[in-house]
Amino acid sequence: MTVVDDLSTGFEANLEQARHIGGTRLRFVKCTVSEAEQRTDMEAFDRVYHLAAAVGVRRVMQRPMDSLEVNVLETSAAIRMAQRTSARTVIASSSEVYGKSTRLPFRESDDVVYGPTSVTRWSYGCSKALDEFMALAAHRGSGLPVVVVRLFNTVGPRQVGRWGMVLPRFVEAARANRPLEVHGDGMQSRCFADVRDVVRGIERLLETDAALGGVFNIGSDRPIGIRALAEVVVRRAGSRSAIVSQTYEAAFGPGFEDLRAREPDLTRIRGLIGFDATIPLEQTIDDVITWLDAASRKEHAA
Ligand SMILES: NC(=O)c1ccc[n+]([C@@H]2O[C@H](COP(=O)([O-])OP(=O)(O)OC[C@H]3O[C@@H](n4cnc5c(N)ncnc54)[C@H](O)[C@@H]3O)[C@@H](O)[C@H]2O)c1
Repeated sequence: MTVVDDLSTGFEANLEQARHIGGTRLRFVKCTVSEAEQRTDMEAFDRVYHLAAAVGVRRVMQRPMDSLEVNVLETSAAIRMAQRTSARTVIASSSEVYGKSTRLPFRESDDVVYGPTSVTRWSYGCSKALDEFMALAAHRGSGLPVVVVRLFNTVGPRQVGRWGMVLPRFVEAARANRPLEVHGDGMQSRCFADVRDVVRGIERLLETDAALGGVFNIGSDRPIGIRALAEVVVRRAGSRSAIVSQTYEAAFGPGFEDLRAREPDLTRIRGLIGFDATIPLEQTIDDVITWLDAASRKEHAA
């Protein structure tokens, strides 16, 4: 098994526990996907999991051009690589593809609704929609056995808050007894699924013939308000942190648009593979706290 990552936001240390999988040694290649496409020493893959992307609202807002290029051009390189051997391929898309649709829950066959191109945040959803178009075109055009998965908020140990991901941002603040900053009134809601549930679902989908050429929501369909999430984090961390409000303008600059609610319809993936996100959010939060505790002990010891 080979992992290709340019470490632009990822960390090689996260692969420590995966160094040996099923008796084979993991090979790590530090480069971009398009550089990997040009290399002559890459194996003939039978499975491709394309997860590399410019991720996180904060990163997309700060570096919009770079994010668009990564999300579109690197996916097209990944698809070309997979086509060489007709490898079974997963393309990781996002709930951002639904844009600012207000029809809940979001169904894969729904129309998508974006704001104007002058509002940078929609560029992320549009870039992921282009990835989906390319994947489906490759399926129809050359028979690439590909599955598109639209991930909703996916959380767990090793996710960091630096790029604006809300759960690690809250946990990092709570551990340090710093205020947890909730954007807007905090009544906006999201559904959080544990990454371990999501990974199991993705693996099963890829091995299911009837999934090939399809688009699937994956995640949890149990919503929680962002202020309520902050309260749970403070409680689980035994923290003295206050929960404070921050305007969207202060967090992201003028003209930022957010969604009040985001929730997947999981009928399609449930019907095909019986998927359910089973790990409770409280368990995930506890595991994120434990992981951050261990990481900071390691840092102090070094
Ligand atoms: N975590 C979520 O809540 C969520 C939600 C929706 C969609 N997704 C999608 O899931 C996938 C994985 O996201 P994640 O949350 O694990 O984020 P992540 O930042 O942990 O993973 C993305 C990885 O891609 C790498 N990368 C970036 N550009 C690259 C390039 N050009 N070449 C090679 N590697 C590159 C980064 O270094 C990083 O390790 C992404 O496609 C993302 O859009 C995630």
